Amino acid sequence: MTTGKFRYALDAREEEQPAPARTPSRRLAGRLVALGACGSIAAYKAVELVRLLRLEGAEVVVMLTPAATQFVSPLTLAALSRHAVETDVLGLLPDQRIGHIVVADSADAIVVAPATARWLGAMANGIASDAVTAACLATSAPVVFCPAMDGDMWTHPATRSNVERLQRDFRYVLVPPDSGELASGQSGIGRLAELPQIVDAVVAAIGARPVRAPGAAARPPEVPAPRDQDLEGRTIVISAGGTAEPIDPVRFIGNRSTGRMGVAIAEAALARGASVTIVAGRVEVPLPAAARVVRAETTAAMRDAVLDAVLAGHADALIMAAAVADFRPRQAADTKLVRGGSLTLELEPTEDILAEVGSRAAALDPRPVIVGFAAETGSLDRAPDKLRRKGADLLVANDVAEPGSGFGTETNRVAILSADGTRDDLPLLTKREVAERLLDRVTATLDARAPQGHTGATTREAR
Ligand code: CTP
Repeated sequence: MTTGKFRYALDAREEEQPAPARTPSRRLAGRLVALGACGSIAAYKAVELVRLLRLEGAEVVVMLTPAATQFVSPLTLAALSRHAVETDVLGLLPDQRIGHIVVADSADAIVVAPATARWLGAMANGIASDAVTAACLATSAPVVFCPAMDGDMWTHPATRSNVERLQRDFRYVLVPPDSGELASGQSGIGRLAELPQIVDAVVAAIGARPVRAPGAAARPPEVPAPRDQDLEGRTIVISAGGTAEPIDPVRFIGNRSTGRMGVAIAEAALARGASVTIVAGRVEVPLPAAARVVRAETTAAMRDAVLDAVLAGHADALIMAAAVADFRPRQAADTKLVRGGSLTLELEPTEDILAEVGSRAAALDPRPVIVGFAAETGSLDRAPDKLRRKGADLLVANDVAEPGSGFGTETNRVAILSADGTRDDLPLLTKREVAERLLDRVTATLDARAPQGHTGATTREAR
């Protein structure tokens, strides 16, 4: 099973524990390392190995064999790695992709630590009955394996020949076990190698190879770190999806918006404690159950719904993530248009919702924070003028022609422009991460205007 849904309280101090004796040099920055742990008493060391790999800058995803889950908790490893832990070869990610295949296709290296005698036998024979073996079979990334077992098991001819096969035929990198005290109480060879040595082997195995999956969308999804409830008591209105302007009862003028960005903002705002109203045009993704949803397919309906939610609803912020039509047919036909000769549609401009809220909100004290989006193609040169024209505080601009950005993608590369003239160019991020960064800016603007406890709602209601 994939442990996809969990909440954890990661003590921030865990991250700040003193670095190991050797200062990490972030040799794995930008890399995705998959750690496969098998059922040995040394599985507890996987917890520390996750920490060391992250200190080197790696994103880490953990896979456990069923026996490993008896030794170490998937919850612990999920909390530390910030990824759901793959514990089932049949496990699916929340978006229905096959977990071990996504790991196999995106990891820059797989390190199996501890590798048990059983795993060596399964791997040497290609028996993919657990997520670790299946991912190793399916990957073209380097594999580093670090055995840990009883001394007699390590010297058994079966183990020797399995290890040899992995090195010789599969070109896997062996980090041999050390000598010392074993779980049996005896002393001998079989202890898992020292963790810094394992990290060094992973760094060396990856070497200068290009990053296999630089974009977050191709990697297993990262679970966002728990956040403060910094939007508690705030009301945020978010428009999402595309509008549809009727031509006749069956046809409309629409656009490619799926609503993913608006829904990601809504989910992030809810997780940060806000009350959220989604004014939804046509959307292709499920809407969060905790939000209040107002359906508004046409620009005119969206205008009414947004004005009502922001002005009458005393919202603290409006985020216009919807792709709103600029033109609509002047007259929609009452009955279905039939095929004939050519057809000319006369279009008229629609209301500019954002600009209208921008000008009407200017009279409010405190003014709600107003955020616009600008989907451009080729250059973002028009964005500063759009920000001014619409009276927005922030404008999230992106080039929808760029790969990984825009409609229907899981990721976005955006610039956040502010009315004070600053521009923050963000890297390619998941839409959820873009949402979090945008909400950081919204929260800062809100707090500068009306600190928590003196919300706009209270002030305006009092007048
Ligand atoms: N917007 C709006 N009402 C409209 C058109 C757009 O509220 N009738 C909002 C969008 O939701 C977005 C912002 O305005 O937040 C910018 O939208 P965009 O289509 O990029 O800007 P336009 O004003 O339509 O300018 P242009 O089409 O010339 O780029």
